[in-house]
Amino acid sequence: METRERILELLEQHRGSSLSGERIAEALQVSRTAVWKAIRELRAAGYLIDASTRRGYCLSDANDILSAAAIRPFLSESCQQYADRIRVYDVLPSTNQTAKEQALSGAGHGTVILANRQSAGRGRKGRAFFSPPGGLYMSVVLKPDALPFDQVTCVTAFAAVAVCEALRETAGVSPGIKWVNDIQLDGKKVCGILTEAVTDFESGGLDWIVVGLGVNLGVRAEDFPPELQSIAASVDPEGSIPSLRNRLCAAILNRLLSGDVPDQPQMLRRYRELLRTLGRPVTVIQGDTQYPATALDIDGAGHLLVEKADGTRAVLTSGEVSIRT
Ligand code: BTN
Repeated sequence: METRERILELLEQHRGSSLSGERIAEALQVSRTAVWKAIRELRAAGYLIDASTRRGYCLSDANDILSAAAIRPFLSESCQQYADRIRVYDVLPSTNQTAKEQALSGAGHGTVILANRQSAGRGRKGRAFFSPPGGLYMSVVLKPDALPFDQVTCVTAFAAVAVCEALRETAGVSPGIKWVNDIQLDGKKVCGILTEAVTDFESGGLDWIVVGLGVNLGVRAEDFPPELQSIAASVDPEGSIPSLRNRLCAAILNRLLSGDVPDQPQMLRRYRELLRTLGRPVTVIQGDTQYPATALDIDGAGHLLVEKADGTRAVLTSGEVSIRT
């Protein structure tokens, strides 16, 4: 790691308090000139670092540049090993696309692709995903046998639980899940999840899973495109929570890449607790047909059991239907 990244990590660890140039130099075993130069480079790269002659350097609260160095201090011990697999870009067409390409060229389990914004963010069913600067757009490459789930849909459910818990921990909000994978706050979507399987042409098997998460952060209601204003919202719309993006990213990774992932029944129990759809009237949208129903429960694979108006029941898998609450 370069001096620049190491200083950033140190300042992040001591956020809110100042560190003198001398103390930084000592901690990193570099000269004070090297510290001064690195601080100058960090500022040139856009980091807001306050300095005072008496106290030293301090990372300003207004600073939330996405970087591996700023994420690392918030990673749990068992996830520290993945810090070197975090790759941050300013802009990408789609982090999922890049993650899939990198998985095929040998990127390992736990590779994380992040972008400050996406120029062609993708959602389920070929929809576009609104991805302005400042949101959290991340894709994680996972090896299927590293997870105790027997269906890819369970990986999506697992990711939804991870995002809800991470938002509660870092932003102090209590989101819920709309089946199958929309994260909502007060009935509006704040995060979408797109899970994609990557198959190697030669092996023909399911080699990798890419979980893509898009969390709306720091977007005021009026700044969403008009067609999204009634259905989408943002966490921390005023952008007032310090370092939320880096902390949220770490809190999600701590769950997705933990050495202690819950087994499928445990994970689905938690998913069920967070699901806001159960017991509610829904509209099932299946291709060109739609029908009203009541959402009753999920089964052991995360499929949704609904009761139609005539009393008959159906089991819905995520690939086939959308629901409107
Ligand atoms: C949906 O709600 O339909 C899923 C949205 C998924 C968006 C995320 S943002 C990061 C990753 N890259 C993409 O292009 N899509 C996912």
